[in-house]
Amino acid sequence: MSGRDPHPRPVADRLAPFGTTIFTEMTQLAAKHRAVNLSQGFPDFDGPDFMIEAAHDAMRSGHNQYARSVGVPELNRAIADFWRRETGEGIDPDTEVTVTSGCTEAVIATLLGLVNPGEEVILFEPYYDSYRACISIAGAEPRFVTLRPPTGAAAGDIVSEPFTFDPDQLRAAFSSRTAAIIVNTPHNPTGKVFTREELELIAELCIEHNAVAITDEVYERLIYEPDRLPHIRLATLPGMAERTVTLSSLGKTFSFTGWKIGWAIAPAALSASVRAAHQYLTFATATPLQHAAAMALNRGEDYVRSLVNDYKRRRSMLATGLAELGFIVYMPHGSYFILADHSAFGEKSDVDFCMRLITEAGVAAIPPSVFYDNRDNGKKLVRLAFCKRDETIREALQRMEKLKKPHG
Ligand SMILES: Cc1ncc(COP(=O)(O)O)c(C=O)c1O
Repeated sequence: MSGRDPHPRPVADRLAPFGTTIFTEMTQLAAKHRAVNLSQGFPDFDGPDFMIEAAHDAMRSGHNQYARSVGVPELNRAIADFWRRETGEGIDPDTEVTVTSGCTEAVIATLLGLVNPGEEVILFEPYYDSYRACISIAGAEPRFVTLRPPTGAAAGDIVSEPFTFDPDQLRAAFSSRTAAIIVNTPHNPTGKVFTREELELIAELCIEHNAVAITDEVYERLIYEPDRLPHIRLATLPGMAERTVTLSSLGKTFSFTGWKIGWAIAPAALSASVRAAHQYLTFATATPLQHAAAMALNRGEDYVRSLVNDYKRRRSMLATGLAELGFIVYMPHGSYFILADHSAFGEKSDVDFCMRLITEAGVAAIPPSVFYDNRDNGKKLVRLAFCKRDETIREALQRMEKLKKPHG
């Protein structure tokens, strides 16, 4: 070995613009500075013991070889049963449910399976960053619709109105080249829960333009405002069942984000397209964890109820603490993130603010401009996760008291 690679190649063009994800970068920086990590959205506590037991039992009972590609039958059935409890609609677990390695794999499998190179996919910005990269991997073009914060708030305010979009911008984003729209509700990072009227407009445009809706509902159980309940699924609106792929996963609901058990629910014809890609991406997902996931969906309601109560309390703790420090807080209606405006601290950009937050206060957060096509739209904002223990949030807020304000 000479130590020199005779054929060095840079990252392929389709991925070069995206670099390393911000989550990896911030988590590495957090470790380096021993920061309290409110950046990446994973709990700093474990999910329920009964799931760990169920995973052990599955391993001990010999569920250790490749699973059926579309999911172990018990899990497909548990997902179909969950869907019936939620929507009142029966679906076929074998042809309409596909188990994937997290929602992340479901997103790319759906885009690769349904969208042709050169077609367009509409997404709301700020967006979960994998959407943008996966659209590029599929050879498609993104079209953006911007979610904007309510105006008129001052430092220290907690704003309860949601982010909204301009219906005309949405209408203008659709064209004869539109293959799909991605709708994430409850939404990361704004915490927005799309209203029935907003979803009806999306449905109307999908039908008019013969487009598919891909919904990312990983935070479907994490909704805190009574007037945003029950969770509304685009697939249940008139004319949408046949053109919607509903994606979700287990990680957020059961606090095991590392298990990466996700799924896609869609009519058989659309599911066949998702499966066409899934079989060559991962083929199948960890067998014993699928068995434990089935158990969680069948018997986990008590856990979910108590988790939602905990998150409701932590949402208030973080929101109140941030407002007292001088942030404008956009109260999330769902998900486990808060977006806040950091203008009072005098930094020009969200990246500068997050660097200062880590180095001056020892707290890691996410700069949301990376979730926008026009990065300027995110530069006043910072995203903090509250899927953390009470003491973690308390410690983060205490550390943030060190942040100096230019006029304070
Ligand atoms: C909106 C959204 N979709 C998908 C995912 C990833 O889900 P999974 O861990 O199931 O792949 C996340 C994780 O943060 C997310 O916020």
